[in-house]
Amino acid sequence: MDVNKTIKELEVALKEALDGVEKIEALQDVKAQFIGKKADLSLLMRHMKDLPNEEKPAFGQTINEAKQRFSALIEARRETILAKKMANKLKKETIDVTLPGPSYTLGTPHLLRKITAEIEDLFMGMGYLVKEGPEIESDELNFEKLNLPKEHPARDMQDSFYLTEDTLLRTHTSPVQVRTMLEYGGAKPVKIICPGVVYRRDDDDATHSHQFMQVEGLVVDEKTSLSDLKGTLLAVAKHMFGEDRKIRLRPSYFPFTEPSFEVDVTCSQCDGDGCSMCKQTGYIEILGAGMVHNNVLEASGYDSSRYQGFAFGMGVERIAMLKYGIDDIRHFYVNDLRFNHQFKGGKS
Ligand code: DAH
Repeated sequence: MDVNKTIKELEVALKEALDGVEKIEALQDVKAQFIGKKADLSLLMRHMKDLPNEEKPAFGQTINEAKQRFSALIEARRETILAKKMANKLKKETIDVTLPGPSYTLGTPHLLRKITAEIEDLFMGMGYLVKEGPEIESDELNFEKLNLPKEHPARDMQDSFYLTEDTLLRTHTSPVQVRTMLEYGGAKPVKIICPGVVYRRDDDDATHSHQFMQVEGLVVDEKTSLSDLKGTLLAVAKHMFGEDRKIRLRPSYFPFTEPSFEVDVTCSQCDGDGCSMCKQTGYIEILGAGMVHNNVLEASGYDSSRYQGFAFGMGVERIAMLKYGIDDIRHFYVNDLRFNHQFKGGKS
């Protein structure tokens, strides 16, 4: 038997077989067939015993070398197959990074939310707590404890939606003052603002809405004066309408404060000279305020000989309308996205 010839033939057959192999699994079969235990090459070893001793080492070496060559050929093929596989994968999974991505429409907080948040920021910076209360309120907290007993004529200032004889949709955020004072039990100072939605039986038009938002403020302490109120309101005016604003207090009437004021800010459009926005007066009314009425303090458990307080209430829509020249309050409630999107972005 000519070992070298047999090996040559096997090598040619192996190369042919490898050329047709494209998958790792098929390569395993070829490997078993050519260098496995039952491969022809391995079986050749059996002839060793028939050889004279001096020829045995050379014979064994020839077969081992052949095995190593076969093994190297198979490994080389394995690498080719893996490289092809990787190249294919890369080709398939190539992404075109220049393609535009999917576009998402970004939402934006409603302008009323933003204005409210801005007012909250200002007051939290001055040490106020933000308090909220329910929109369904009792007559007692919405009116009576605010010095508005039943049949009081000033109740007409706030036409109400009653749910039962004793409950209504709150007409202002002032009942949250009462709730907080009752919660504190007359025993500690109060410094809060109360943002929220309120309801009145108004016919909707450009300046009236049956639902709107207010921010109420209340400070009660042992030394609270009108000048504290003025300073606070000036800070609000400047924060919302610009550093150059001035304010003035006009005597007015609210049942829950005495004295009471309506507060005007110099018109930001004409700087106080007079224009169509301020109806040539140079001033624009922004809120109501006053020193808390003794009856209100007492009704909520505060000793009026020891404590004084000031309070104020402002309409958020009104502030927004003045700030942006919005001419119809209904824009806030119809949710026309063309309107809402004009106020996209960080601060209002
Ligand atoms: N509650 C009043 C309203 O809705 C606004 C108001 C005015 C609140 C004066 C106050 C205040 O706390 O002192 O018309």
